[in-house]
Parts: sequence; C-alpha cells; structure tokens
Amino acid sequence: MPGAIYAEGLVKTFGDVRALDGVDLDVPEGTVLGLLGPNGAGKTTTVRVLTTLLQPDSGSAVVAGIDVLKHPNEVRRSIGLSGQFAAVDEYLTGRENLQMVGQLYQLSARDAKARALQLLERFNLADAADRPAKTYSGGMRRRLDLAAALVVSPPVMFMDEPTTGLDPRNRQQLWEVIQELVGGGTTLLLTTQYLEEADHLADDICVVDHGKVIARGTSDQLKARTGGERVEVVVHEREQIDPAREVLASYGKGDVAIAEHTRKLTVPVTGGAKLLAEVIRDLDARGVEIDDIGLRRPTLDDVFISLTGHAAEVVGEGEGVIAKPVHGRKSRKETAE
Ligand SMILES: Nc1ncnc2c1ncn2[C@@H]1O[C@H](COP(=O)(O)OP(=O)(O)O)[C@@H](O)[C@H]1O
Ligand SMILES: [Mg+2]
Repeated sequence: MPGAIYAEGLVKTFGDVRALDGVDLDVPEGTVLGLLGPNGAGKTTTVRVLTTLLQPDSGSAVVAGIDVLKHPNEVRRSIGLSGQFAAVDEYLTGRENLQMVGQLYQLSARDAKARALQLLERFNLADAADRPAKTYSGGMRRRLDLAAALVVSPPVMFMDEPTTGLDPRNRQQLWEVIQELVGGGTTLLLTTQYLEEADHLADDICVVDHGKVIARGTSDQLKARTGGERVEVVVHEREQIDPAREVLASYGKGDVAIAEHTRKLTVPVTGGAKLLAEVIRDLDARGVEIDDIGLRRPTLDDVFISLTGHAAEVVGEGEGVIAKPVHGRKSRKETAE
C-alpha cells in the first residue's frame, strides 16, 4: 500500500529547465521525509505539485489516499502547507490572522481564539499578538506563517524550508513543534537546505539535485554509504608521524591519509570505540604522544559532497543559517555542528 504521500515519475519543465525530472516518493504514514537539496534542485516544485498548486507534465501523485491530479479539492482539505505560498494578511494582527485561519477551518470562535493564543505563545509572538503583521520582522512573519499552517492539524503536512531565516533559538523551538506534530501521527514532507535539520527531523531523506532524487535512505544509511567511520589522530611531533602511520595502517581498512602540517593522520576503520581503545594502547606502546584522537563518523555534509560534488559551507546571511549546500564550490568548510 502506498504511503501517505506517494509520487511516481513526476516531470515538470519550465521552458528549457527540467525542474522535476522523474521524481518518485513514498512517505509512510506518520513519518517525516526530508527533501534535501541545494537552491534550484526542485524542492518547491515538488511541494507545489503535491499540494495541487501546480500541474506536472507527467507522472502521478497520491496524497492522503487521494489522487492529486483527479481530485485536487479533496486533497486540499486533507493537507496543511507552510512556505512561500502560505498567506498572511498584512493588515490583520498576528492574533487576528490565526483566528481567521481557525474560522476558515470551521473551528468555533472560542476554539479559534484559544488555538491562536496557544500558537502565539508557542512561537514567541505573544508580545506582538496585537500588532499588524506588516510591522513584524522577517523572522516573526516566518513564525506567524508556520503558526497559521498549524492552526488545525491535518493528516498530511508540507513545509517548504520552514526554518529558513529563523535564528537558532526559534529553529530549535520549531523543531520541537514539528516533533510533537509528528508524534501525534501527522505525516510530514519537509524541504530543507540545512543538513542538520534533515538529520535532526527526518526519518528518511531524499537528496534531490537537478530535479532528480539522487539518493534516499535514513541519515545513518546515507552516512554509511559515504564510507563509514574514520580514526583521526593528531600526534604531538612530526617525528611521530611515521610510527603512528604504522600503527594506524595495521588497523585501517584503507590508506592512511597524512596532513604533515597539522600532524594529523586519518584512516577508515570498522570497529568503533573498542578499536579506538586498542589504537590508543598501541600508540602508547610505541611511545607516540597524542595531542588529539577521535572516531569520526561522516556527517550529512560529507554525504552531500560525495553525492553531488557541491560543497556545503557556513553562510552568514540571515539569522543563524547553519550549513547550506552551494553549487559549484569545491572546498569544504566546517559546519557548525
Ligand atoms: N515558475 C517557474 N518558471 C520558470 N522556472 C521555474 C519556475 N519555478 C521553478 N523554476 C525553475 O525550476 C528549477 C527548480 O526550482 P525550485 O523547485 O524552486 O527549486 P528549489 O525549491 O529546490 O530551490 C529552478 O531551476 C527554477 O529556476
Ligand atoms: Mg524552494
């Protein structure tokens, strides 16, 4: 049986651009799918097709058990959407906006009011509740938009880059809300450019690039694909690089990489913490003094680079952007993990 969100062979072209080039998705009920990809990958187009806002050139989709192309109106009644296309009325206050959405969804005036208050508090908007939305900062509007999408809890939710532009504290709060929502049984498709967000929230991840799903799996599966664990050692003196290399070579599952200037040696391994303890004992027995040693697992960042050739970098724009895949960058900077 197909999942709560199911798509097969979605194709959408805009002139020469194949925004979607045969996208297949299957999201089991009550789970979170993270659609991860750089700018222009096709994330928003996927969401627009699945939420009935855009007709694909070919392919089919079923959401909440309803055919998206045949019965768009019924699909709309079963889904919630937050993102660039969700509307907030500028001239209404935050509170009025949320109450209005509640009433659109047929809550009683009393329930709509209570729900609005709850959401205003949860999204840190209580102090600004009675100001028109047009006076809100970018981050506040983003939060109001998300709150509006959560007034009622539909069985299937779509969030298009929900935390773009949020500061770390608000991002954290939103993650908590999302986890609660999903704990209550909601199926969620979430798009993101933030590797850490997909890692944190998604049960399964689809990496998209140029309109195609180029990899899928759990975060752990994707990381394992990228090459498992490595031991990293920084020796105290350059003279110790050679004996350290010999020790690491005897445990490694591949070549020992050496960075002379930082006195760092890296080798792929299997065996985890137990093996790490043995390596430390052997290095000690050989008289190698260690400045630093650790077991490093690949991050989603590594996965992304190995899959797409695009690096991820720390981007200073907006408030608290963590790590963002960027086309055409070869070097990898450390992400704030
Ligand atoms: N309405 C449109 N008209 C023309 N090109 C579009 C339109 N919407 C999206 N595209 C193009 O389709 C590709 C995918 O866009 P989009 O789905 O918005 O990517 P993402 O959300 O992953 O950044 C991009 O190359 C984008 O420029
Ligand atoms: Mg987009």
